[in-house]
Amino acid sequence: PEVELLVAALPKISLHCHLIGSVAATTVVDLARKHGVGLEGRTADDLYDHDSYEDLGEFLRVLDLVGSVVRDVDDFHRITYESLTDGGAAHGVLHREIHLSPPGHPGVAYPTILDGVVAGMRDAQADTGITSGLVVGLCRERSGADALSLVEEVVRHRRDEVWGVGLDYEEVKGPPGLFVEAFAAAGRAGLRRTAHSESGPPAHVLTLLDELGCDRVDHGYHVVDDPEITARCVEERVPFTCTPVSSDIGRYSGSGDGSHRRIAEMVEAGLLVTIDSDDPPMFGTDPTHDHRVLAHALGWRREELAQLTLNGVEASWLDASGRADLR
Ligand code: ADE
Ligand code: ZN
Repeated sequence: PEVELLVAALPKISLHCHLIGSVAATTVVDLARKHGVGLEGRTADDLYDHDSYEDLGEFLRVLDLVGSVVRDVDDFHRITYESLTDGGAAHGVLHREIHLSPPGHPGVAYPTILDGVVAGMRDAQADTGITSGLVVGLCRERSGADALSLVEEVVRHRRDEVWGVGLDYEEVKGPPGLFVEAFAAAGRAGLRRTAHSESGPPAHVLTLLDELGCDRVDHGYHVVDDPEITARCVEERVPFTCTPVSSDIGRYSGSGDGSHRRIAEMVEAGLLVTIDSDDPPMFGTDPTHDHRVLAHALGWRREELAQLTLNGVEASWLDASGRADLR
């Protein structure tokens, strides 16, 4: 009970939550009906059955199905607003840096996506006070040239709400070294940079820092397999945005046993760790549940949980005046 009160009341900073993975199953069903498209026989009850995510690829195919029903400005407004209010502010989230995956919505123009998302961000802030910025995800299953053209599009349609770029989808299909040019272009435009490294080796973390110019790593669980790289990340206070529930259910991290040992090891090594959901309804979690799970598995209490929030403040791309701290 005491832990329940604590995890619910804790102010939270959310740096690793994908918009496309945040859509409530009932909203997906609504949007499918609105656009007259099928959901491959799935209903709101079994859409996010996580036993069906045999591997990351299977999970990402469900993500594609969700992406295919979010099509117009109103849809993007709705899912952004719901993610920030019911899925964020209601759990004590003060600030979220939303991962947006334009390639997950084939056939929808980037400016259309932005118009809806930005309107949703503004309305959510007006209604709840939650602040947010955008991290545009480049899809690593596509080519480096595709990633570069997305960066060019982001720069062409520049909005204050777009703070940086990321790199998502399946790491084994697109090692980080393929995206050097795209990330360099983002850097030249003054965008902040982060990238996923969930199943990959510690060397990928080095590539992110030294070749892609990242100042954050999404997941990064394997960094602790290399003491030297770990020491450097501790020294430079590189943030790692960890997602306990999604990585446990997904079994992509090498710690899919409910023990959350990887996250504990990272914290014990002195790394700057933050906690988030990744794709909350798809993994049956939310910001409160993520903290609850760690409190139970690792015996963490007030001090350790509060430190996660302070880490989130340090790791965020928000400056003291409430605007993006762009380089
Ligand atoms: N997109 C949404 N969730 C993801 C994850 N865990 N890894 C890669 N891409 C993703
Ligand atoms: Zn992710």
